[in-house]
Amino acid sequence: MKILVCGKGGCGKSTIVALLAKEIAIRKSKVLVIDSDESNIGLHSRLGVQKPEDFMNYFGGKKLLFEKTKELNYKWRLDDLPRDYLTEKGNIQLLSMGKIYQFGEGCACPINALSSKFLEILDLGDEEFLIADTDAGIEHFGRGVEKGVDILFVVIDPSRESILLAEKVSELGRQVDKPVFYILNRIADQEIKEFLLNSVDREKVISIIPENKEIFISGLAGNEFNIDVKGIREIADMLESKKKASVKVE
Ligand SMILES: Nc1ncnc2c1ncn2[C@@H]1O[C@H](COP(=O)(O)OP(=O)(O)OP(=O)(O)O)[C@@H](O)[C@H]1O
Ligand SMILES: [Mg+2]
Repeated sequence: MKILVCGKGGCGKSTIVALLAKEIAIRKSKVLVIDSDESNIGLHSRLGVQKPEDFMNYFGGKKLLFEKTKELNYKWRLDDLPRDYLTEKGNIQLLSMGKIYQFGEGCACPINALSSKFLEILDLGDEEFLIADTDAGIEHFGRGVEKGVDILFVVIDPSRESILLAEKVSELGRQVDKPVFYILNRIADQEIKEFLLNSVDREKVISIIPENKEIFISGLAGNEFNIDVKGIREIADMLESKKKASVKVE
C-alpha cells in the first residue's frame, strides 16, 4: 500500500511519516519511506538511519532527470532498488529523491517528476508499505505525484491554512479518485479538538494526535523516534484493516 502524506508547512508531516513508519516496522511489515521534500533534511534522523545519497544522482543528477524519468517505463520491486541509494534499519528503508543545495540551481520540478514516476512504477507486495513525505502545500499535485499512490493523508494542525488546504486536497483527491483521510495533529485540548472537528469533514478524520512534549523535544534534538503514540497506532490499525479488506475483494 502506498501512502502520500501532505499538508501545510510545519503541520507535522515528517513527524507523522516517521512515527507511522516506525509503527508499521514494529508490526513486521516492510516500509519504504520516500523523502520527496527537496528542502528539509531531517527525516533520516527521526527514522534513526543515515542520510541516503540523493536518488536523482542515480539518474545522472538534476539536469538529466526529466529525460531519464521518461525512460522509467518498467515496474520496480523493492528488491530492485539500488542499495547505494538506500539507508535502512530493520524493516525501514529510506530513499530521498533529491535536494536543492545551491543558489540558482533552478526549480524542484525535475525532482517532483522523478517522485511522480517512481511512485507509479513501484510495485509493492501485500506486506509492503510505502510512505511518501512531501514538501509543504500542494505544488506536488501539479506534477501528478499523487497518481501512483493508494491513499492521501492530510495532516491538519490547528490553523486556518491547514483547514483550507485540507478542503483543497480533498477536492483534488476526488478529481483523481483517491481516498483522502485527515490526521489532526498538535491538538492541545478538548476545545481545539472540537473546533477542528467542526471545521473539517469529520468523516475523513482517522486520528487525533495531541501536542506531545516528547515528540517535540525528540524532533528538536534530531533524535530517532521511539515514542508510542496512540493516534499513530490507530492509523496503523486502519491501514491493516484496509489491507485485509482489499485482499478479501481479490
Ligand atoms: N504532535 C506533536 N507534538 C509536538 N510537536 C510536534 C507534533 N507534531 C510535530 N511537532 C513539531 O512540529 C514541528 C514541525 O514538524 P514537522 O517537521 O514534522 O512538520 P512538517 O509538516 O514536516 O514541516 P515542513 O513543511 O517544513 O516539511 C517540529 O518541531 C516537530 O517536532
Ligand atoms: Mg517535513
